[in-house]
Amino acid sequence: MAYNLLKGKKGIIFGALDEKSIAWKTAQKCYAEGAEIVLTNAPVALRMGAINQLAAECGNAPVIGADVTSLDDLKNLIEKSMEHFGGKIDFILHSVGMGLNVRKGKHYTEMNYEWNQKTFDISSMSLHKVLRTAWELDALSEHASVIALTYIAAQRVFPDYNEMADAKALLESVTRMFGYYYGEKNKVRVNTISQSPTPTTAGSGVKGFDSFINYAEKMSPLGNAPAEACADYIAVMFSDLTKYVTMQNLFHDGGFSFTGVTPKVLEAMGGE
Ligand SMILES: NC(=O)c1ccc[n+]([C@@H]2O[C@H](COP(=O)([O-])OP(=O)(O)OC[C@H]3O[C@@H](n4cnc5c(N)ncnc54)[C@H](O)[C@@H]3O)[C@@H](O)[C@H]2O)c1
Repeated sequence: MAYNLLKGKKGIIFGALDEKSIAWKTAQKCYAEGAEIVLTNAPVALRMGAINQLAAECGNAPVIGADVTSLDDLKNLIEKSMEHFGGKIDFILHSVGMGLNVRKGKHYTEMNYEWNQKTFDISSMSLHKVLRTAWELDALSEHASVIALTYIAAQRVFPDYNEMADAKALLESVTRMFGYYYGEKNKVRVNTISQSPTPTTAGSGVKGFDSFINYAEKMSPLGNAPAEACADYIAVMFSDLTKYVTMQNLFHDGGFSFTGVTPKVLEAMGGE
């Protein structure tokens, strides 16, 4: 069911890799709610080709390659998007993450710092680069909304999340800091959504993901939030119904973040 929540709005969606991606579901949702969108991903991800199917579904949305760590790529992306829209941008989804130490199986205590720098660049400082590029090009409309996706490992220890815990903490800090400046400048809102574990390519890269997702399901009174529901929440955050929400980390996790223990978890531990 659609409510025309984003009628007339124009936005850029980063990170739709395949149909499991949170960004993929969000693109579909934004389009269904009346938005015009531009899709972007790293050139290497675009070569997989799946995104063209999504673009066709979303009113032949342009697909513009950009490595999120490259200021030149981001400038090109934002300029071309404004040209396509014929004006400013109303929303941006940053749905990008990559942990090099995680991917290469390096334990947190034996971190390779060069890989770690790259992890922070892709997963955290890229939000700064996106916002800075938009700022310099004066690309965002008044009350525009920017959302980045994060995970509760930024606040609490989930050991196998490894360096991505630090990356998400940094991402959330950039959200607050740039959110402050962009709010002052032209009322742009910047928030993170802290999503339940979700079976996507990035999610499944975390060690022990299958048992962890079952644990989170048992620990959440509403159960794990699926990617589709995350897309719904993002659409609301892009809409005019949330104009004064900024610099927040918003949990979208079925209640996991505030639950201490549940009978389902105790039962799995061998309790009565
Ligand atoms: N899946 C989960 O359990 C979960 C939970 C909480 C938060 N998140 C976050 O949600 C976001 C989206 O991840 P997802 O789960 O949909 O997985 P995904 O693998 O579908 O998406 C990650 C995206 O990042 C893109 N990317 C990687 N390096 C890039 C670069 N240099 N330039 C541009 N794009 C690049 C990939 O191409 C991919 O499209 C990430 O920030 C992730 O950390 C995921």
